Amino acid sequence: MSLINLKNLLGHAKSNKYAVGAFAMTNIDFIEALLESAIEKKSPIILLLAEVHFKYLDIERVAPIIIDRARSANIPVCVSLDHGLNFKTIVKAIRCGFNSVMFDGSKFPLKENISQTKEITRIAHAVDVSVEAELGYVGGESVGEKAPESHTPDKNLFTNVKDAKRFYEETGIDALAVAVGNVHGIYKGEPKLDFELLKELSDTLPIPLVLHGGSGISDDDYKKSIELGICKINYYTGMTMAAVKRMRAYLTENPDVNSYPDIIKTSMLAIMEDVKERLDVFGSTGKCDSSDSLCLSCDDRSCGINIRDNNHSSSGTISYKDLIKTISDKVSNNILNLSNK
Ligand code: 13P
Repeated sequence: MSLINLKNLLGHAKSNKYAVGAFAMTNIDFIEALLESAIEKKSPIILLLAEVHFKYLDIERVAPIIIDRARSANIPVCVSLDHGLNFKTIVKAIRCGFNSVMFDGSKFPLKENISQTKEITRIAHAVDVSVEAELGYVGGESVGEKAPESHTPDKNLFTNVKDAKRFYEETGIDALAVAVGNVHGIYKGEPKLDFELLKELSDTLPIPLVLHGGSGISDDDYKKSIELGICKINYYTGMTMAAVKRMRAYLTENPDVNSYPDIIKTSMLAIMEDVKERLDVFGSTGKCDSSDSLCLSCDDRSCGINIRDNNHSSSGTISYKDLIKTISDKVSNNILNLSNK
């Protein structure tokens, strides 16, 4: 069992200066490819299902499969709705067992975005589900019917620091997706992230910040963003393009192939290679490597993340050695009590 909600997971990432990769799934094969990559890298991971992708994966049908597989992964996994666009979708995701939801009210005026996000946060928090919201406008999400389009970020839609402070204070969200020069899909030209703005946002807000539109950003820019407070990086277009490219090459090299599973397997290997590279750059590789730590607040007892700061909502944490000692003390006390009777 290894489900951990976004608040707890990103709290650990923030204190330890790394980012957790959040990867969008658009078919069942992604689940295995993503989890296997994270297990191999001993890294936590966030599995995303975006509302615009429900036409490929119906959340109500696939949630039991995703959650069941995530629970047995033995690494910390957060299962999150991505870009939920309305109240109904958010509630549906919570009912399906997702332990994190992103409400994207970025197209609404500030006041409306605040009021809807606040209501959603109140409901989600009542059942220990974390909430990410977006302020400013990232735009350009890949839906996948055609090749992803290229976009240029609009400076006028970057996240405003004063609004972000108000937004956080009034909604009580757990993480904020910011617009600082990032766009979904393909960047027109070189991405130019506004690091000054990112620093200001991160100095102003106590919560973890999220970078959407992770595809196309250079390793140096990922690292700099993480240094400046980015704790979650959303990634999709790069994986799907890597899969299609590999599939094309495979079919060109093997024109007689007619084994569908082999074609799928080839594309999934390309996805895994891409994902594992991201986990390395995001700094999350090896974060579940510790063998003597336990986290008693998430529902995993062996995930390896030893959260000793205050990121966990309820109980504290205890090391494996402490736990053995506690159990041994309890057992010997009981024996003593019995023999004294
Ligand atoms: P990319 O498709 O640009 O990697 O962005 C993914 C994303 O941000 C999903 O929310």
